[in-house]
Amino acid sequence: MSVEDKSSSDDLTASSASGPVNVRRHVIGAAAVTALGGLLFGYDTGVVSGALLFLKQDFGGLTSFQQELVTSLLLVGAMIGAFGAGKVADRIGRRPTLLVTALVFAVGVLLAAFSPVYWVLVLARVVIGLAVGSASMTVPLYIGEVAPPRIRGGLVSLNQLAITSGILMSYLVDYGLASSANWRLMFGLAVIPAVLLFVGMLTQRESPHWLIRQGREDEARVVLRRLRDDGDIDAEIAEVKEVAARRVSARDLLAKGVRPALWVGVLMAIFQQITGINTIIYYAPSLLQGAGLGNSAALLANVVNGAVNVGMTVVAIRLLDRTGRRPLLLTGTAGMVVGMVITALAFLGGDQLHGWNAYLGIAGLLIYTGSFAVGLGPVFWLMIAEIYPLRIRGQAMSVATIANWGANFLVTISFLTLVNAITPKGVFFLFGFTSLVALVYFAKRVPETKQRSLQQIERDLGAQMSEDGTPPPAPRR
Ligand code: BGC
Repeated sequence: MSVEDKSSSDDLTASSASGPVNVRRHVIGAAAVTALGGLLFGYDTGVVSGALLFLKQDFGGLTSFQQELVTSLLLVGAMIGAFGAGKVADRIGRRPTLLVTALVFAVGVLLAAFSPVYWVLVLARVVIGLAVGSASMTVPLYIGEVAPPRIRGGLVSLNQLAITSGILMSYLVDYGLASSANWRLMFGLAVIPAVLLFVGMLTQRESPHWLIRQGREDEARVVLRRLRDDGDIDAEIAEVKEVAARRVSARDLLAKGVRPALWVGVLMAIFQQITGINTIIYYAPSLLQGAGLGNSAALLANVVNGAVNVGMTVVAIRLLDRTGRRPLLLTGTAGMVVGMVITALAFLGGDQLHGWNAYLGIAGLLIYTGSFAVGLGPVFWLMIAEIYPLRIRGQAMSVATIANWGANFLVTISFLTLVNAITPKGVFFLFGFTSLVALVYFAKRVPETKQRSLQQIERDLGAQMSEDGTPPPAPRR
């Protein structure tokens, strides 16, 4: 029986017909432990907005540029981390890479919490960034390889759920510690998930796909016995060996068969950022304050936005393996267009939001965030764990991840300047437009990967997604 022929009705919570409870426990356990890396990604990117308010005072006043450095150098570190992690994960394995990542997280957040002078804090943010970048690609990579195809969508997206939960947690911590102005604790609390990730990874096994690729088939078989129903194991090993044996090297990242998949990953990465999500995640309170809302109203709207982000990610996890990736991606991206246009319309009367316009603006932002969370948020990270050939999977995911962090950096540093230049209304219309362009691209180019083994997706993309990028036909059931 081939792995893709399994029942299509299973989801994360249902029991598999032939899969014993233990199998599900091991798979979900592996995904949940690894997803702590996603939690750290979300927490560390979200925490700085609140912390900034207080560390300014402690370091005797910081210029805007100094504040921007503390915020955005994490993104530069993340680009470097994603670059290195791809190579390292392919060379030493996914598990050791995650162990090192957890250590770097711990060192970085402690350095930030105890930084005696400003430049040490800046250095600490770069170090944290290295770990964030590494986690952002190694977590979906590892979960994607550990998960059986029928529940892979939901499992890999636990990572996105962890990211959004991390962001929400950081908002709540910032809010809770605001009265004591304790920015050191805001940064330092992240050491708890970092230690949990390290200890948790000690209890996990190496990715079976990576082991097979190293010729360590016996070890892979032992691991797969924990993660699969017996009948699936031989078929999977044979499939992984077959695709691993193909001559694809790092130099072939741009080879004909791989190029379409590379483009899909890189363009999804860029679209995920240039449609504006992090301008909302990082700057929503300032935007709303600027529009005349009081402090607490702005913070409350931010927390609600964070909660919608988490809630809609849960919806995505429930649906990804049932409806498929494309319907969620397309509906979600269409919702982002609608949300941005509503927000822009709220600002039609001027840069200040009064009365109903304030509600309209917030409603637009919530629709936008919820739509991102149900589609492009999780689907991007899932797709890049699914569409690359095994032999270059680590490196190809790195390229897409670097593109994601690079685009994030550019949007983040230019956003405030852009608001000044073309007003909030102009910026929201612009994001509505980029979302529309993204929607058209996704409809044309992004393939469906639901319930197919990674090996089959690889064959389909190589064989059928030819130079013109035509997506492969719907999967066999
Ligand atoms: C994105 C992050 C973003 C987060 C928001 C992720 O998928 O990659 O840049 O901050 O979603 O939920």
